[in-house]
Amino acid sequence: MDSDLIVFSGNSNEGLAREICDHLNIPLGKLEISRFSNDNLFVQIGESVREKDVFVVQSFTEPVSDHVLELMIVLDALRSASARRITAVIPYFSYSRSDKKDAPRISIAARLMADLLKTAGANRVLTMDLHADSVHGFFSVPVDHLTAIPLLCDYFKQRLDPGRTVVVATDAGGAKRAGRFARLLEAPLAIIDKRRLGDTDVTQGLVVGDVRGRDAIVIDDEISTGSTMGTTVETLYAAGARSIYIGVTHPVLCGPSIDNLRGLTIEQIVVTNTVSVPEEKQLNSLTVLSVAGLFAETIMRIHTGESVGALFT
Ligand code: R5P
Repeated sequence: MDSDLIVFSGNSNEGLAREICDHLNIPLGKLEISRFSNDNLFVQIGESVREKDVFVVQSFTEPVSDHVLELMIVLDALRSASARRITAVIPYFSYSRSDKKDAPRISIAARLMADLLKTAGANRVLTMDLHADSVHGFFSVPVDHLTAIPLLCDYFKQRLDPGRTVVVATDAGGAKRAGRFARLLEAPLAIIDKRRLGDTDVTQGLVVGDVRGRDAIVIDDEISTGSTMGTTVETLYAAGARSIYIGVTHPVLCGPSIDNLRGLTIEQIVVTNTVSVPEEKQLNSLTVLSVAGLFAETIMRIHTGESVGALFT
């Protein structure tokens, strides 16, 4: 057991943090998070972190603002307690969707979050499947950007015949991610033309590529409200797909997502545990793969100064 390495958890996904600690064979770091009567957050680190290499696991899940602020205050407390190096481990960085100024008078909030994390005390960031790769560059501290694509691909490789499969990107922005999956699976790629009309309103058309008679695996970074998947499934059946599977890294599953997904004719939805899925959202079609081993391996390599490059391929 390495006593120089400590992993702490915020309240968003303690299950994943505990699993990571099990892989590393260390106990979860002691941390108290509570609220004063005026609703202000109170954080106290429960053990010495002086000159330690510390990692804090916190996904930006609902209630997002609470979880973001919780992480900021934990980072600040660790810095005040003289930790040697602090890594913010953010398996799901929700603000990566706010990555460009595509409407007047809006904030590129992903950039703001990156600045705030550094200000709060993060010396490094470890994250997974950002909505856009460019968000990586918003940080002025080192970022290790993992992907669940190989994990998802291994799962489907064991169950489907690549010769009868087509990998589908739900929009042009997701083509690179889906293309990587298709290369690993050695299957063809199709791309859907998606137009987002609002938060829960999307239209899709024209499939680039041939899905007729094939088992389609739809690859995306996240399922949020499920609107994208709803129209994707319609579009694919209309284009002649034989059956539909979904492979997504982050099961955000907010708003009407569960009703939207229940209504779909699909074989399976495969996600990871970057976001914890509560009991009431556990659909029969849902399979959750764990990314704990990958995060643990990366944390150990960061800690020992080994290259993490091999884990990104
Ligand atoms: C957006 O472009 C993303 O890649 C996902 O397709 C999107 O976040 C899914 O959101 P929803 O489930 O609300 O359609």
